[in-house]
Amino acid sequence: MKILLTGVNGQVGSALKPLLMSLGTVQSPPREELDLADAPAVAAWVRRHRPHLIVNAAAYTAVDRAEQEQEAAFALNARLPEQLGRLQREWGGAVIHYSTDYVFDGTRDGAYTEGDETAPLGVYGRSKRAGEEGLMSSGAPALIFRTSWVYGLHG
Ligand SMILES: NC(=O)c1ccc[n+]([C@@H]2O[C@H](COP(=O)([O-])OP(=O)(O)OC[C@H]3O[C@@H](n4cnc5c(N)ncnc54)[C@H](OP(=O)(O)O)[C@@H]3O)[C@@H](O)[C@H]2O)c1
Repeated sequence: MKILLTGVNGQVGSALKPLLMSLGTVQSPPREELDLADAPAVAAWVRRHRPHLIVNAAAYTAVDRAEQEQEAAFALNARLPEQLGRLQREWGGAVIHYSTDYVFDGTRDGAYTEGDETAPLGVYGRSKRAGEEGLMSSGAPALIFRTSWVYGLHG
């Protein structure tokens, strides 16, 4: 299985890489090789390599700065997941994508489930929610994990 892992130098991506390597051939171009905000470059890369699976651990994660950098947050968190889904749909590849508890407003007393109404409070949460919707509407087989407060060996 050919796997494209994005965000390999991030907290989640760096932890995922050794695990994914036991499942197949992992390609994980860093930002210097593939700027994920550059949509034509992303399309060219995916069409050339045709990964069976894209694991999208890249994101714009500066939650506070996102309020001033809306365009940058939406490029990575909203448009990229949708684009990856549309590209994979072209030939039957799948996507695993990471989202966040920031799609909720946190006022609920108890745990959230997948079917609960989303209500993001800021730009970061809205951009991540838009990414979920874009990927789900892309038609590609996809899994979305809403994670929270990740911790591991690297940060
Ligand atoms: N960590 C948590 O506690 C937490 C909680 C909830 C949800 N999540 C979700 O989990 C996922 C991974 O988060 P994380 O904490 O691992 O994030 P992170 O440590 O900030 O890593 C993000 C990665 O995305 C890459 N990236 C950003 N913009 C890029 C661009 N234009 N081109 C190429 N690469 C780019 C970064 O590259 P550089 O290394 O070059 O900057 C970095 O490797 C995200 O979807 C996030 O929303 C994380």
